[in-house]
Amino acid sequence: MHAGSTTGQAPVRATAPRTAAGPGRAEAALLLPEIGRDPLSAALGLYRRYGDLVRVPLLPRHTLFLMCHPAHAEHVLVSNEANYRKAATYRPLRVFLGDGLVTSEGALWERQRRLIQPIFSHRRVSGFLPGMTAQVRGTLDGWDLLPDGALVHVSETMSRLTLNIVGEALFGADLRGAGERVSAAVTGMQDFATTAMRNPLLLPAPRLGLRTTPGYRTWRGTVEAIDAVVEQVAAERRAGGGPAGERHDLMDALLEARYEDGSAISPGQLRDEIVTFLMAGHETSATVLTWTCHLLAAHPAARRRLEEEVDGVLGGREPELADVDRLVWTKAVLSEAMRLYPPFWTLERSAVEDDEIDGVPVPAGSTVAVPPYLVHRHPAAWDNPEGFDPSRFLPGAGEGRPKHAFIPFGSGRRGCVGNVFALLETVAAVAMLAQRFRLDLAPGGVPRVQPTVTLRPRGGLRMVLRRR
Ligand code: HEM
Repeated sequence: MHAGSTTGQAPVRATAPRTAAGPGRAEAALLLPEIGRDPLSAALGLYRRYGDLVRVPLLPRHTLFLMCHPAHAEHVLVSNEANYRKAATYRPLRVFLGDGLVTSEGALWERQRRLIQPIFSHRRVSGFLPGMTAQVRGTLDGWDLLPDGALVHVSETMSRLTLNIVGEALFGADLRGAGERVSAAVTGMQDFATTAMRNPLLLPAPRLGLRTTPGYRTWRGTVEAIDAVVEQVAAERRAGGGPAGERHDLMDALLEARYEDGSAISPGQLRDEIVTFLMAGHETSATVLTWTCHLLAAHPAARRRLEEEVDGVLGGREPELADVDRLVWTKAVLSEAMRLYPPFWTLERSAVEDDEIDGVPVPAGSTVAVPPYLVHRHPAAWDNPEGFDPSRFLPGAGEGRPKHAFIPFGSGRRGCVGNVFALLETVAAVAMLAQRFRLDLAPGGVPRVQPTVTLRPRGGLRMVLRRR
């Protein structure tokens, strides 16, 4: 056991402290612009050159550790998670997600997580499945109006679909009039967060930095727009208005939930949580669906198998809860898409106290980046890591694989609260799409990845629509 650990956890491997490989200070300084421009290719370059634990002395008193082994992920996210807070890179998000579940820390986070976790239980989230299938049906009906062979903007469509799904689950019918405003605001926030997160120079004084960033005023406008919608719906609900009785959505659940002392959520906290769900629960699922469409088109045998499964299990009807367990290939395809293209491609933490990981001392205050993108390709856990092979995720196939080799939803106490929600909506969307359509690759080759807050295809993804 080592002295610095807050939980007394043993280091990942009990060896004498060693020095991590990595660039020297001068070379690291030269890396800063690349990290700003394309952090994923910078991380890939470091991993290829130095291995799965890289030390990067970024700023005079600030060191970044890149940790790519499943055991590193387990240590940082689970066994010694008490020693890690969300890193400074989350600060730009905090400016508009406030103290919502993604960005809060400590006692406030614990209290919120206890309040919110039951709202996202399997049983309660299952109740949203009919709303999800209705939204998917609406999207596919829109495609039905297009001629065979039309070029469709898959990434935009999926983004709109998942926003509608989470919006409906949050606000029920009340979102409808404000859908366009909310959609524009969420997209604006995401773009602004990406700009801010990519610029390491904003890290020391993010609030000050953000105010001098071009686009700040636009961003303020979007935040005000979304706040207005949230406040209006919450006020109506508190006053007993809205189409109550017809449905029970997440907004109702949040308003009804009580802390241990019997008190209810405050208006400010409610706003932060709602905006957090809109952001965390929208582009993530959209990215998974977009890459899944691309991968299925690029691998026709996997697509044929998926169509056969969907036809066999559903026989033309829409998916219900009991079907989700039986759509094993569909789920395996989605997992493989998340392995290759995890929406949150990097998870970053800041060490509270000195730690030691894999024999390497990690001083307090260091940033530790655990990129699912690299962990999901680690050769210790995956054969042919770059290859698309959903059968890795068929029941029984993963035996012997380290648990933390696959972390698209993070892990530990800060793991994704919406994972069941995400599973249901993505299975419903892929299955219903496969029932009616086949998307083929458009000319232009394999899309390149763009590491924004989520891992999107650069320039979006267009595909050729065919009826089955
Ligand atoms: C396929 C879709 C999704 C993926 C891949 C995903 C991934 C993740 C990951 C990796 C984290 C942990 C971040 C970290 O440790 O720094 C996270 C946290 C979170 N996610 Fe998701 N997510 C998805 C969908 C959703 C949905 C649909 C919702 C809600 C409707 C949601 C709400 C949240 C929230 C609130 C947190 C913060 C949890 C906490 O810190 O207590 N996510 N998600």
